[in-house]
Amino acid sequence: MILPMSDKSIESVLTENRVFPPSAEFAAQAHPNAQELSRLHSLASLGTEAFWAAQAREHLSWHKPFTQVLDSTNAPNYRWFADGQLNVSVNCLDVHLAAAGDRTAIIFEAEHGEVRRYSYAQLHAEICRFANGLRALGAKKGDRIIIYMPMLAEAIIAMQACARIGAIHSVVFGGFSAPSVRDRIDDAKARFVITADGGWRAGKVVELKTAADKALCEGGASVEHVIVLKHTGEDIPFKEGRDLWWHDVVAGQSTTCQPEWVGAEHPLFLLYTSGSTGKPKGVQHSSGGYLLGAKLTSKWVFDLKRDDVFWCTADIGWVTGHSYVTYGPLANGNTVVIYEGAPTFPDAGRFWKMIQDHKVTVFYTAPTAIRALMKLGDAIPESYDLSSLRLLGSVGEPINPEAWMWYHRVIGGERCPIVDTWWQTETGVIMISPVPGVTSTKPGSCTKPLPGVEADIVDEEGEPVKGLDAGGYLVIKKPWPSMLRTIWNDNARYIETYWAKFGNRYYVAGDSAHRDKDGYYWIMGRIDDVLNVAGHRLGTMEIESALVAHPRIAEAAVVGRPHDVKGESVFAFVVCKGERPTGDTKAFREELRNWVGEQLGAIAKPDDVRFADNLPKTRSGKIMRRLLRTIARGEEITQDISTLENPHIVEQLRGRE
Ligand code: WT7
Repeated sequence: MILPMSDKSIESVLTENRVFPPSAEFAAQAHPNAQELSRLHSLASLGTEAFWAAQAREHLSWHKPFTQVLDSTNAPNYRWFADGQLNVSVNCLDVHLAAAGDRTAIIFEAEHGEVRRYSYAQLHAEICRFANGLRALGAKKGDRIIIYMPMLAEAIIAMQACARIGAIHSVVFGGFSAPSVRDRIDDAKARFVITADGGWRAGKVVELKTAADKALCEGGASVEHVIVLKHTGEDIPFKEGRDLWWHDVVAGQSTTCQPEWVGAEHPLFLLYTSGSTGKPKGVQHSSGGYLLGAKLTSKWVFDLKRDDVFWCTADIGWVTGHSYVTYGPLANGNTVVIYEGAPTFPDAGRFWKMIQDHKVTVFYTAPTAIRALMKLGDAIPESYDLSSLRLLGSVGEPINPEAWMWYHRVIGGERCPIVDTWWQTETGVIMISPVPGVTSTKPGSCTKPLPGVEADIVDEEGEPVKGLDAGGYLVIKKPWPSMLRTIWNDNARYIETYWAKFGNRYYVAGDSAHRDKDGYYWIMGRIDDVLNVAGHRLGTMEIESALVAHPRIAEAAVVGRPHDVKGESVFAFVVCKGERPTGDTKAFREELRNWVGEQLGAIAKPDDVRFADNLPKTRSGKIMRRLLRTIARGEEITQDISTLENPHIVEQLRGRE
């Protein structure tokens, strides 16, 4: 098997032997504590079905209790708690009103500094008003609704309002461009789009409505209404009849709203994510099982309690923003911080200032952000009071031990445990992670599976790898409640992508991993053609398709190259129609970068573009991606290039000709 990381980095991970147990002080107040965790593990070891059923009875509020637990009739299309009925927004809001209506649910900070707080009662009222407004427009259970918004409280209100009426939301990250919005609208056949006139990012306006309009003029025929939140106040085009202001939609609406009771399997949302082939796929999540996972993992992994102030910096455009901003913490009645803007605006102290100002206790971010802020030195965070912090989290990619140690020392003041959480859009919630009051951590390892999660590492035949530190495919051997249910419109792709490799026996995550003598998991990276750029998943094929859509491009191959802040950056090898551009190609490379940005979004822009007369192909016409990866990294070529159709191309690809 091809492990995507170089041998050198495997080596450095294997020799990592620092261990950090939680402090006695942290352990003493944590839940689960050691005893509670071992009880959860032993319950789960008696049978995951009974384990999850007990959790679902205890932690969710059911309108109609379930009698079936796991339905494997159509495996691997598993169903959980299928005859039970509930409403997700009731579980996130209504259940807290009597005892904790005044508790703060959301602390929102705008990029320009304005702070707005919503109590549970206020948030509930806003969600009900908007849900009623949606209903008045004819929105109903099962409708798909695209949410294309900045990171505002209204984005959470929109998601929860969809859940309240049983509509299926699909959030599109505000950094994605018009064609991405169009593809998602068309695949989901969405009836409504909820957006804003614009958002603020690093002092500039991101023109969301303009992009939504563009998406709708190139497709999006299913859309009846676009609901627009007035936020930046910029002048925007408005299409009479189709476009409606948010404030008009909610005007006069009641602050209570009868929830739509849905079956536990009713889709709560679709979230599109990149794979190795084709366009992004709509990962479909359920209502009951998903919420159970989001609620439990928020508690287990972040030790959240009544007085915590939890700040997960992820945008709602990603699954992290779904599970650890919108759903998990609210289901637990916690307080979340959300921030609209750029992490370095107006300066690189913004995150630390916000932690100080809002007395954030639990902070969850991505290694790419940690590395970017680490580069700016210790003096910036050290000039803020970070003493409110008690727990730190990391997600999105393996965290390199150097960044881990900096996070631990400078941000966590050597007192905060770090939870390195492994999971995916498809798993819905955290699967492998320390339980902070119990697990001793090792920099770079996500440690061990949570209760009820049966992970393993298997070889090409699907057999557990033998020997310590042997690498293999990371798989999950038993279904779990928050797992994806299917790919919207494409169940065949669901089975093919996640199950077929080992005869539908295991869920195949697409990552390689190994396990050390203590049973700790070390994630090595993707085994498919998926890049992880700044914690965001990008399919190489999507970027290649965007490049070849340019009138001058005949062929393109995209690979990842290690990057000290982003983890990986996009490296594109490009073949032009006609002559290969030579001499000063800077302007053309910039044009191609911007072209990709317009097609997909800024995060997909290649850092490097290299021109060649051809791509390295085997005699059967297959592009040798491994060779391209070696070249992109500037490493010595060890692959056998004698099987290449065109070996002379190598020097050109290396940029030496
Ligand atoms: C892929 C999933 C999970 C929410 C954010 C990304 C990588 C994620 C870790 C981690 C090592 C990680 C994996 C995974 N990944 N967390 N803690 N350590 N790798 O969600 O976009 O669905 O990407 O991110 O490669 O498969 P996603």
